[in-house]
Amino acid sequence: MSDPVESGKKIPTDTLTTIEMLENDPRQVYARLRQLTPIVRLSALGGRIIFTKAADVKRVKTDSVHFGSHDITTPMQRAFGGHTLMRKDGCPHLRERRAMEPALNPDQIQKWKPAFEVLVDRLIENLASNSTANLYSAFATPLTAGYLSLLLGLDYIYEKHLFDWASALVRGAMNSGFDPAIFAISDLANKEMNACFDQMIMQKKASPDGSVLSVMANEDEPLSLAQIRTNMKICVGGAVIETRDALLSTIYGLLSNPDQLRNCISSNEWGPCCDEGLRWVAPIQASPRIVKKSLVMRGVLIPEGETVMAVQASANHDEEIWHRADQFDSRREFNEHQTFGDGAHQCLGGNAYRLIVADVALPKLFSRFPTMCLEKNRTVFFEGFAFRGPTSLPVILNQSG
Ligand code: HEM
Repeated sequence: MSDPVESGKKIPTDTLTTIEMLENDPRQVYARLRQLTPIVRLSALGGRIIFTKAADVKRVKTDSVHFGSHDITTPMQRAFGGHTLMRKDGCPHLRERRAMEPALNPDQIQKWKPAFEVLVDRLIENLASNSTANLYSAFATPLTAGYLSLLLGLDYIYEKHLFDWASALVRGAMNSGFDPAIFAISDLANKEMNACFDQMIMQKKASPDGSVLSVMANEDEPLSLAQIRTNMKICVGGAVIETRDALLSTIYGLLSNPDQLRNCISSNEWGPCCDEGLRWVAPIQASPRIVKKSLVMRGVLIPEGETVMAVQASANHDEEIWHRADQFDSRREFNEHQTFGDGAHQCLGGNAYRLIVADVALPKLFSRFPTMCLEKNRTVFFEGFAFRGPTSLPVILNQSG
C-alpha cells in the first residue's frame, strides 16, 4: 500500500548534473543519484523528475493506477504524424498492440531465421575481403536495416532509408522546443514512409508473409490506415538505432573480455552474452510516463500531472541487484534487466532482437573470425543520454599468432 500523499516531502533538486555528464558518463551520474537522491528533479532536464532505482523503475512501468503513457501534448505526435500506441493507455493501447503481436511472437519470428542467416552470411563474406573493419558501418548497420526490412515487411529497396527515417523520427520526438526546422525533416520522412507503407500494404494484401505490416494489413477488422502507418513508425523509430547500438555494445563487451568470448565460442551459447550486452548499456536509457494520481515513494510526493522519466539504464546497474554492474559479465546468474521495459508497454521486439543477435549474428561472426580483436590505439567511445551505444567499432578480423 502507498503512504498517504500528505506525508510526502518535496522532491529534491539536483543542480550538479549537466547534459554533458549525462551524454558522456551517465553511469557515474546515476550511481550518485541512486545513492543520494534516487527520486530527484534534474535541473539539467528542466526540472524533470527521474527514477533511478530498479524497484522504482519497475513500479513506474507496471503500476497503471498511478502512472500512464497517454499524452497527446508531446512533440512525438507531430513527429510520427499521429498518436502512436506507445502514448496510449488501456483498451485503445491494447487493441493496437494486439494488431502487431502475432507478427512478433516467438513462434512466428522463427520463420525468419533462414532469411536472417542468408543476410548475415552475406555480410560476413563482405567483411572477409579485408583484414580490418569498422563493425559499426560494415556489420551492425546493414544487419539492422536488413533484418528489420524483412521483419517489418518492407521491400529491400527501402533498407537504405531506415536509419535516416529512424533518426528523423527520434529527433522529431525529442524536439521539445517544437523547432520547425526539425519537424520539416520528420515531415519529409513521414511522407516517404507513408508512401512506402501504402505501397507495401497492397503487396502484403496480395501475398501475406507474416511480417508486421502484413499481419496488421490482413486483420479481419484492420486498424485504420493512419493508425497502421503511425504504429509502423514505432517499429522504425524504436528498433533501428537500438538494434545497432545493442549489438555493437555486446560485441565490444565480448572483445574487451577475451576469456568470456572464448567461453561463448567453445560452448556455442550466445544467449547470456546477448542479454548481458542489453543490460550493460541499455540502448534506450529512459522512458517517460505521466503521473495519473499523486503518490508517495521513498518519502517524497510525486505530484499528479507531472511527466517523469523511468531510467532503465540506471535500474540495470542498481547495486541492490547487480554485483559489479559496470563490468560486462556474460557469466552472471541473474539477468532480469529492464532494457525492454515492463508492464503494458513492454517491448514487442525482444524475441526478434534475440533471434538475430544470439542465434544468428554472434555465432556466425565469431565462428568465421574466432581471433577477432579490438584495434589497439583506437578508443571506442560511447555516446548519448536518450539513446546510447558505441560511435564506432574498429576491429582486426583475424589476429595472427
Ligand atoms: C535492442 C533493441 C530494442 C530495444 C532496446 C527496445 C526497447 C524498447 C522499450 C524500452 C520499449 C518500451 C517503452 C516504454 O516503456 O514506454 C519498447 C517498446 C516497443 N518496441 Fe522495442 N526495443 C527494441 C527492438 C524492437 C524491435 C526489433 C521491435 C519490432 C520490430 C520493437 C517494437 C516495439 C514496439 C511496437 C513497442 C511499443 C509497445 C507498446 O507500446 O505496447 N522494438 N521497446
